[in-house]
Amino acid sequence: MNDKILELKSVNKQYRAFEGFFKGSSVTINAVDNISLSIQKGRSLGIVGESGSGKTTLAKLITDITRPDSGSVLYKGKDIRQADKTEYPAYRRNVQMVFQDPYLSLNPKLTIFSAMKDGIEKYYGKKGLREKCAKYLNMVGLDEEYLDRYPHEFSGGQRQRLSIARALSLDPEIIVADEPVSSLDVSVQAQILNLMKKLKLENGLTFILISHDLSVVSFLCDDVLVMNKGQMVEYGSVEDVLNNPRQEYTKNLLTASKGE
Ligand SMILES: Nc1ncnc2c1ncn2[C@@H]1O[C@H](COP(=O)(O)OP(=O)(O)OP(=O)(O)O)[C@@H](O)[C@H]1O
Ligand SMILES: [Mg+2]
Repeated sequence: MNDKILELKSVNKQYRAFEGFFKGSSVTINAVDNISLSIQKGRSLGIVGESGSGKTTLAKLITDITRPDSGSVLYKGKDIRQADKTEYPAYRRNVQMVFQDPYLSLNPKLTIFSAMKDGIEKYYGKKGLREKCAKYLNMVGLDEEYLDRYPHEFSGGQRQRLSIARALSLDPEIIVADEPVSSLDVSVQAQILNLMKKLKLENGLTFILISHDLSVVSFLCDDVLVMNKGQMVEYGSVEDVLNNPRQEYTKNLLTASKGE
């Protein structure tokens, strides 16, 4: 049985950056350089690496926000570029992204209900929309009455919970979370991380978690990918890689993370 939900095969993404006094010369940045990995059902992956190492680009390739220059992303064994009219929506629904900054991912002009209902309606129809939205708010510890409020009426931690509720409302298999707690204070971070852990253990949700904080990755993830300059430095179980790092780069990340 193939229990890989998601697979990346030799994925590459380059960007062109302009530099020099008049920005006349350009350099090519290998944002993601030949990355291959697989996500098994029920196993969560952490992605770590210093700033600019390609973590967000990789998340965008996984969620098809950005397309690779070469290589492929497979959902349940099928290249998403070759997915048909039922396979592609299934992939989009099942692989959801939660962004670092909940201010940017929630439309300020829409109430929470309006923001949540469109996605649910698209995949599940109009029936019981309000009840469904309320159910997911409850799951993240927020009251139903919040449905009619606007994003600016919430604290940062509440907004991050709302983005998670919106992602959950589509009943995905994987949530790709890019630094989901780094903009929050420590007590709120703990609330969100405990919620994610509960969703993982009780609902079998798989997380792909980007974090510069390696203790967050150890808390939630089973596997870890260490990136530097777009490339894979180490990849394996959290136990192997974080407890027994082979590369100097990983050791330095661990020291930096502990020193925070
Ligand atoms: N849209 C873009 N256009 C040009 N260059 C880009 C673009 N997006 C990313 N890059 C470059 O690609 C490289 C990887 O960026 P990326 O945002 O993936 O890093 P990151 O690991 O998420 O960093 P951080 O920890 O700071 O969020 C960087 O050199 C960045 O400047
Ligand atoms: Mg990033």
